[in-house]
Amino acid sequence: MPVTTNFYQDYDEWGAEAIIVEGKWFGLEIIKKIRVSKGYRIKQIDESLRQNRTIAETRLLVASKKAGIKTPHVFEVDLENHIIIMENIKGEKVKEVLSKEIFLDEKLNLVYTIGELVGKLHKNDIIHGDLTTSNILFYEDNLYFIDFGLGKFSKTIEDKAVDVLLMKKCFTSTHSEYSKEFFFAFQKGYKKIVSNSASILKRTIKAEARGRYLKESDINCDYLLS
Ligand SMILES: Nc1ncnc2c1ncn2[C@@H]1O[C@H](COP(=O)(O)OP(=O)(O)O)[C@@H](O)[C@H]1O
Ligand SMILES: [Mg+2]
Repeated sequence: MPVTTNFYQDYDEWGAEAIIVEGKWFGLEIIKKIRVSKGYRIKQIDESLRQNRTIAETRLLVASKKAGIKTPHVFEVDLENHIIIMENIKGEKVKEVLSKEIFLDEKLNLVYTIGELVGKLHKNDIIHGDLTTSNILFYEDNLYFIDFGLGKFSKTIEDKAVDVLLMKKCFTSTHSEYSKEFFFAFQKGYKKIVSNSASILKRTIKAEARGRYLKESDINCDYLLS
């Protein structure tokens, strides 16, 4: 398959977990997401993380699409080499759209829709695992969710609450100017779709407080392996 070497991100040992390569596949515009090896991980752990995340990402991309949430179409998966070949969504990251000089109302409408769509994911027991405005693409007036490698299927209030907390943290860190307004609009959309939203959003605030008051000894260091 002819593939151009047009990287979205420079790959380096401590940097991105995957490299993204644009190309064509039977005439279709695709991207290859290649999970690369990290030399600082123990070999077996590295291998199984790359494998598990490739599987998780593929399953969740497909399940979300089935549930009516737009995701790139998955064309091919190469588990041995940790590669997903998927549709190239030639849009912009929501992060960029929300940083533009457009009316605040337009931004709030977009975030409200994101709230509805995350609600729809959660209604289908799909946890994204890395909800940020860099992992949602805006293309031809539609929103596409990508980057499900840390996601899972779960019915629990806790998992859904943590997903919402990631979104809230992204608003605070990346869209600090309107973070309160954005989170309010997000919740409005989310509440419209999710019947037990009150319990989930309450748990989000609890999880946030827990994060603030964590003692060093309470911190789970598993992430050092990831
Ligand atoms: N299907 C796709 N279509 C278009 N661009 C994509 C697609 N998948 C990923 N990208 C681009 O590559 C970037 C990194 O991909 P992502 O799946 O988010 O991996 P990472 O885990 O490195 O964040 C995205 O922010 C987006 O700009
Ligand atoms: Mg990403």
